[in-house]
Amino acid sequence: SANPQSPAQEVGPNYKPAEQKPTATVSNPISYENVHILPQTPQLIALLTMIRDKNTARADFIFYSNRIIRLLVEEGLNHLPVVGHTITTPVGRTYSGVKFQGKICGVSIMRAGEAMEQGLRDCCRSVRIGKILIQRDEETCKPKLFYDKLPEDIAERWVLLLDPMFATGGSATMAVDVLKSRGVPEDRILFLNLIASPEGVSSFAQRFPKLRVVTAFVDQGLDEKNYIVPGLGDFGDRFYTM
Ligand code: PRP
Ligand code: URA
Repeated sequence: SANPQSPAQEVGPNYKPAEQKPTATVSNPISYENVHILPQTPQLIALLTMIRDKNTARADFIFYSNRIIRLLVEEGLNHLPVVGHTITTPVGRTYSGVKFQGKICGVSIMRAGEAMEQGLRDCCRSVRIGKILIQRDEETCKPKLFYDKLPEDIAERWVLLLDPMFATGGSATMAVDVLKSRGVPEDRILFLNLIASPEGVSSFAQRFPKLRVVTAFVDQGLDEKNYIVPGLGDFGDRFYTM
């Protein structure tokens, strides 16, 4: 708590009274139990501010989106089951902890979802990664499935589905239908996403009530071209080409 002698010395989250802190637009709330929005911390908001800025150059866009992706993966892993695991430390004492149970894999929705693969590998060494190529038709915005390559035993794994942008939800819905057709139960799919539209994420949450979504931000909505607003533009273009 604040030292009354020297209030200006205070550091940490209470460095300023709440009313003197800058305000920022934070995520819209979403009232579905299966949708988890990352805590809207100053760190996350600053990172999102960087990647939303149209003047941010490609190298910075990659660097800052990777940091958010890392937060998404770390939070996603909290949704996987653990079992009790007691170990002995080098000083001969026991510690009762936990360990992860079960096999996982990543599945990226190409092309933008591939940008999230490294963040997953950074947390889960030598994780298997499958791919689904779905592209939105530029005219109709309807998704089209071109290709998939998934681990043979995917039905026995937890699946971390990766796509940074969730606009109409058409692409992600198509990807989940592919996963279900390969025998993956809905409740073993975790969709990791950077920015979602409220309409996309609500209809998805109702359609797949047992699938968990972890997103960094639920934005305002969609524009007439079904781009997320305020959004960040075309993620794939900004990460890979611009
Ligand atoms: C983008 C994005 C999502 C999809 C989101 O991909 O990466 O996959 O659109 O839109 P939706 O929720 O309305 O389906 P796009 O098809 O543009 O391909 P890209 O990844 O190659 O950029
Ligand atoms: N895909 C993107 O990359 N951005 C959007 O806003 C919508 C779809």
